[in-house]
Amino acid sequence: MTDHNLGFGLGLRTPHFQDVLNTQPDVDWFEIISENFMVAGGKPKYYLHAIRERYPMVMHGVSMSIGSTEPLDNAYLQRLKQLANEVQPEWISDHLCWTGLDGINSHDLLPMPYTEEAINHIVERIKQVQDTLGRPLLLENVSSYISYTDSVMSEWAFYNEIVERADCLMLLDINNIYVSSRNHYFDAQDYLDSVNPARVRQIHLAGHSDYGTHVIDTHDHDVCDPVWQLYRQALQRFGPVSTMIERDDNIPPLTQLIDELNIARQIAAEVHSSKPLIREVAG
Ligand SMILES: [Fe+2]
Repeated sequence: MTDHNLGFGLGLRTPHFQDVLNTQPDVDWFEIISENFMVAGGKPKYYLHAIRERYPMVMHGVSMSIGSTEPLDNAYLQRLKQLANEVQPEWISDHLCWTGLDGINSHDLLPMPYTEEAINHIVERIKQVQDTLGRPLLLENVSSYISYTDSVMSEWAFYNEIVERADCLMLLDINNIYVSSRNHYFDAQDYLDSVNPARVRQIHLAGHSDYGTHVIDTHDHDVCDPVWQLYRQALQRFGPVSTMIERDDNIPPLTQLIDELNIARQIAAEVHSSKPLIREVAG
């Protein structure tokens, strides 16, 4: 394993808490949704600490709204920092998006307009967050269903520019790249080819709902073959990267998710047994 490669993980979900403790499955690490554990105590916290004693963890948030024009929520950031003090995660991530305006939370991860103005805005906010948390932030690419006439560059050019200038890291969601490539008619390989491998700290895999004319990022299906193929291409370019599967609806038994995770292990083994790695230097 290279630096920071945790291996193969799963999103920790409530229906699996007891199974994880009872069976201590062959999963290298777990990702938690930070907001689900920003509480004083209770059963979720009991399971969190018990599972953390046995597995490495990372924290993944959905509420930072790094792209919003509203001020950063310092109370939220302090609660996030407090949770990080408890969990001691390997890293903390959120999404390259905005989630609401005027105090209204849309509960959606909304895409940004891909403009220089938005880049300048987000870079400053990432620096504030990283200063507050005292650690680098990972930002994830979101699935999108709309685009803005104001955009002047590709999503990947926008994403790359932000992580380089803010000196943060990427949580690359391969399924989201696939979903957006279908909805916006771009070549997913162009996206992967643009990314600096040294910035990629984690990979998400997930399933979606395919309606033919458009694709929705529902996290309620198995990972599909085109996404597995894209994952293979990603590993060929990036080398070994901590990889996990997200499942948020129609959640199967833990053993079934582990079988799916083993497909990722198998692909990684095939890719890395056959190809020397080239990792570019982060600048
Ligand atoms: Fe994701």
